[in-house]
Amino acid sequence: MDSRLLLVLLLLLGASGLRGQGPGPRGPLEEPPEEEEEVPEEDGILVLNRRTLGLALREHPALLVEFYAPWCGHCRALAPEYSKAAALLAAEAAKARLAKVDGPAEPELAEEFAVTEYPTLKFFRDGNRTHPEEYTGPPEAEGIAEWLRRRVGSSATQLEDEEGARALIDAADVVVIGFFQDQDVATFLAVAQDALDMTFGLTDRPQLFQKFGLAKDTVVIFKKYDEGRADFPVDKELGLDQGALSRFLLTHSMHLVTEFNRKTFPKIFAARILNHLLLFVNQTLAAHRELLTGFREAAPPFRGQVLFVVVDVGANNDYVLRYFGLKAEEAPALRFINIETTKKYAPVDKQPVTASSVAAFCHAVLGGGLKPYRLSQEVPPDWDQRPVKTLVGKNFEQVAFDETKNVFIKFYAPWCTHCKEMAPAWEALAEKYKDHENIVIAELDATANELEAFSVQAFPTLKYFPAGPGRKVIEYKGTRDLETFSKFLDNGGELPAEEATELPGHPFPETPENSTVPKDEL
Ligand SMILES: *[C@@H]1O[C@H](CO)[C@@H](O)[C@H](O)[C@H]1NC(C)=O
Ligand SMILES: *[C@@H]1O[C@H](CO)[C@@H](O)[C@H](O)[C@H]1NC(C)=O
Ligand SMILES: *[C@@H]1O[C@H](CO)[C@@H](O)[C@H](O)[C@H]1NC(C)=O
Repeated sequence: MDSRLLLVLLLLLGASGLRGQGPGPRGPLEEPPEEEEEVPEEDGILVLNRRTLGLALREHPALLVEFYAPWCGHCRALAPEYSKAAALLAAEAAKARLAKVDGPAEPELAEEFAVTEYPTLKFFRDGNRTHPEEYTGPPEAEGIAEWLRRRVGSSATQLEDEEGARALIDAADVVVIGFFQDQDVATFLAVAQDALDMTFGLTDRPQLFQKFGLAKDTVVIFKKYDEGRADFPVDKELGLDQGALSRFLLTHSMHLVTEFNRKTFPKIFAARILNHLLLFVNQTLAAHRELLTGFREAAPPFRGQVLFVVVDVGANNDYVLRYFGLKAEEAPALRFINIETTKKYAPVDKQPVTASSVAAFCHAVLGGGLKPYRLSQEVPPDWDQRPVKTLVGKNFEQVAFDETKNVFIKFYAPWCTHCKEMAPAWEALAEKYKDHENIVIAELDATANELEAFSVQAFPTLKYFPAGPGRKVIEYKGTRDLETFSKFLDNGGELPAEEATELPGHPFPETPENSTVPKDEL
């Protein structure tokens, strides 16, 4: 028997079981539902518990379940969007339903579905309880609805003729059409399920291959800007690679020049193009805006290799300026960064920004002909006058690796709350040891000072540089209080095993926008 048919029969049996006419199939953890049990709803969302989850799974072939906790802030933020998504889907009579489960109140369910943070969203298809799909869409109503539509229906429109194809291409800024005669389309449809900001079509019609000048299977991206079209030919032998196609679509859907702002920020990083070229301008100045022409002209040969980004110095982008050690008055300015190595580059001499100077700068960096620069503040005249010594990039080496001193350094970021919380303990520690000749307690703002020895990945980071040769560095992993700090110092840079713990730290400031549902830790 066809396994789908079997499944349908099982589901039917299950449904009749609910009406008390027979024992439907049940999960091992499920308690028998009460006769005629009605699943309660709140704002169009099914409210499930360990008894009713199985019931809902049997009734709804496409069910998105949010595991939430009453104390979880991100869950509260998601709630109105989640209800709005339910309303959108109900209005178009979509088959997908939305539900929620109070995780802490239903520990058996939280355990069964391995929920370790809130909110966690899982998508159940055809009542399959053992293999739900993790929700990967954005935390807003239209995104949730679209993510589900692309799973309930087809993620790509079937195209039969040129008229249909033209209509689809005209309807959106970015349209992707798979022209497939030999290849299996499953990979293409899977990519289309997740690329919510693009519209997808699919065809096997020879006349459409001909109309669009194609001789073999190809994915074509049509866009209403820049080059207008880009082709991704599919290798007949190797087939379509999901990762390669996703990357192609991300790369080619980006504008040649992207303006840096809250909306584009997630895309800029999602594009996985490691080299970024940034032009800092003051958009209120006509003379600066004119530079964009040359900047854009230089971009096409670097597509996929270097992402061209414009940063308006007047638009709340101070933290980007600080990251590059730039002041707004220095605009227009070019900077280049590899976001993986975080190496930053500046042009050697300040030339006018033209297509050729921009291209020459890129080639110089990519060809290895330029040295990266590191940020450092100037050494403050009173850097060693307080109990906590102030270090910057320029005096770090000399102080930290002084072979006659045991040096304990806090690497912090001005915006980091964990750093602020531990500041009093750090001051108290410095006060306590200020008369110890060979102990130095210091701090360094790691967002304004970059070191050659290592890069600081999380804030705060505490490191101990014991006296003696060999440039030894010991990472501090204990509790951040005076008592434990003192124990560590008195013990020569070691803590008893039971006091070593991992503590929270944050690698980056809060990003302006979250592309997926943010979670609260348990
Ligand atoms: C659920 O899905 C998984 C993976 O597709 C499959 O192996 C399993 O047999 C399914 N279970 C049921 C009850 O259909
Ligand atoms: C941008 O230029 C305008 C006009 O000269 C000036 O008033 C403004 O302060 C500049 N913005 C920044 C952030 O420097
Ligand atoms: C992004 O996440 C942070 C916490 O991770 C949250 O405070 C903020 O409100 C979120 N922003 C948006 C636009 O959802």
